[in-house]
Amino acid sequence: MTARPVRAGILGCGMVADEYATTLNTNASVHLTACADLNHEQALAFAARHDCAALPVDTLLNPQSVDLLVILTPPRTHAELAEQAITARIPAVWVEKPVTTDPRAATALIAQAAKAGTLLGVAPDTLLGPALETAAAALRDGLIGDVRSAAATLLSTGPERWHPSPAVFYAQHAGPLGDMGPYYLSALDFLLGPLQVSAATARRRAERRIRSGPHAGQAFSADAPTYVAALLETGDSVPVTLTASFDAAATHTPHLEIHGTKGTLVLPDPNFHDGEILHRPYGSREASALPQTVIGLPSSRGAGVLDLAEALREERAPLCTAERAARTVHLTHAILHAASPSLPAQPPRQDTAPTTSH
Ligand SMILES: NC(=O)c1ccc[n+]([C@@H]2O[C@H](COP(=O)([O-])OP(=O)(O)OC[C@H]3O[C@@H](n4cnc5c(N)ncnc54)[C@H](O)[C@@H]3O)[C@@H](O)[C@H]2O)c1
Repeated sequence: MTARPVRAGILGCGMVADEYATTLNTNASVHLTACADLNHEQALAFAARHDCAALPVDTLLNPQSVDLLVILTPPRTHAELAEQAITARIPAVWVEKPVTTDPRAATALIAQAAKAGTLLGVAPDTLLGPALETAAAALRDGLIGDVRSAAATLLSTGPERWHPSPAVFYAQHAGPLGDMGPYYLSALDFLLGPLQVSAATARRRAERRIRSGPHAGQAFSADAPTYVAALLETGDSVPVTLTASFDAAATHTPHLEIHGTKGTLVLPDPNFHDGEILHRPYGSREASALPQTVIGLPSSRGAGVLDLAEALREERAPLCTAERAARTVHLTHAILHAASPSLPAQPPRQDTAPTTSH
């Protein structure tokens, strides 16, 4: 590639797109030139806010328009749109999480990108933030010795508390595992290596009620399990527990803890780039915050796109790889299958799903 700025285009001008645009505009070597949305009015308003061109979707999906396409549409559309962008020979494609909910589609997409020579990057990019980078450095430096176990915990009331239209977060492949799991599973994969499933259980509290906005009080139904607990293990047989729930009123449990022979690391929510990493040495009553690793990227969504643009210029692989994203898709699928073989294909009809362990 020449030294000219990488021309980036955003497909899907919804809620998360503004944060991406702000991040992209922090870097002179990337130029947000265009956007598109099924709802063209939405694209026009976004283009006016961020000084770019609002194009028809087909025009944006063309290497004449952009060097790098950023796909920020709803999850069910990701794989097909990425496939179209690769087929159109756009040199680099970024996809929001989850890249797809179908393990076979994730594997096929990676193969297609490799064959076409397309650089494929996938969210989350919180792995590039100072919090997870600091934790990774502490583990590499042996600060807590050999890792003996880890626990990842997402306990929340569910998005109906703050989101005016929360039903989409409870669609069949969403729920706390499908929607938020990518952050937790990618962080574990990044810090501890690829994981596999030993056992899992899932429950569904189907009856939900919108708590904010114009439809507050309205009932809706969850298709996805709303409580998932899994026992995972790393390649070295280190046990890792994962709990993901939209059925908790409040919690004091840390989001992520890693226990080693010489101490424990306590990590912040891997949904975000920032946060304190606490270190508590073995035998100590006190935990102290580690100095944060300085990173050269903004601590906001879109950092991974800046890295992908750099990767395009340097002809190297991006840091947020589609391979890690595909592993999280496979793991999510395996967790749901271990919890109940019928869950991924067909949501349970009653309020609870049967528990099974493998
Ligand atoms: N909202 C957040 O805070 C947030 C944070 C992190 C990640 N994400 C992820 O970002 C993605 C988008 O989330 P969002 O909250 O911005 O969604 P959203 O519903 O607010 O916006 C999605 C936009 O995509 C458009 N769209 C839908 N199908 C399309 C298609 N086929 N072609 C072109 N445009 C299409 C819609 O018209 C809409 O404007 C999701 O994968 C989500 O998981 C969202």
